[in-house]
Amino acid sequence: MSNKFFKICGIFIISVNIIIFLVLSYYLLYIWKINMLLPSLVQIFFILNIFFSIIVYSKMNKAYHTIETTLENAYLSGFEAMAALVDAKDFYTGEHSKNVSKYVSMICNNLNCGKNKKDIKNKVRIAATFHDLGKIGVPDIILKNPGKLSDSEYAIMKSHPVIGANVIAKIDGFTEISTIIRHHHERWDGNGYPDGLKGNEIPFGSQIISIADTFDAITSDRVYRKGLNKTIALKILIEEKGKQFNPELVDIFIKSINITKD
Ligand SMILES: [Fe+2]
Repeated sequence: MSNKFFKICGIFIISVNIIIFLVLSYYLLYIWKINMLLPSLVQIFFILNIFFSIIVYSKMNKAYHTIETTLENAYLSGFEAMAALVDAKDFYTGEHSKNVSKYVSMICNNLNCGKNKKDIKNKVRIAATFHDLGKIGVPDIILKNPGKLSDSEYAIMKSHPVIGANVIAKIDGFTEISTIIRHHHERWDGNGYPDGLKGNEIPFGSQIISIADTFDAITSDRVYRKGLNKTIALKILIEEKGKQFNPELVDIFIKSINITKD
């Protein structure tokens, strides 16, 4: 049941009461001359009825929001536990999903998305948590290979966004999140994968995750190298403006990182 459902019910209850009140008041005007007391009592009764309808509606609405928030938090906790499993499979990335989700939130907080900001932020955060879920389908021998991958191994590695997106697409209402996951390795210049999308053909959420993902990958220890410091990582992001990343989003990320430092 959606919030819209409760609003429609509330408006319906209040409207019905107002109509009954008006019709009966009109009718009772005729009785007024006969009995002065009866119309007053009836009118008070209907005013109270409307008053209680409003209270019931607002209580229903509040209860709905509490249930919605509780379910949302339960969902997110469950997802975070699943994401921890993904990170556990690739122990070198440790808290990668959590870090990417944190950087994504920082970018979203500095975005101008108007009324939809909370909705966009939630979707991108969930997608960030699950962006590498498809690595479950990549054999450990490839995932934990410290050397250079062969072409066929690299092709398997590159299948993880599609595997992850297909799994997430099975959850009701997660189509958009699945699309964001599918395209998190696309590049602004069109040389990414799996579909070689270019510029704003790439879903906005995927553009955000791409920056957060790369920044965390550069600054974290990997099987093949030690993590680099944040200044070098930011320099790499700047060099990749308009090549790998949306230039405006890189600027927002740098601003977010600096705000956090202050
Ligand atoms: Fe990935």
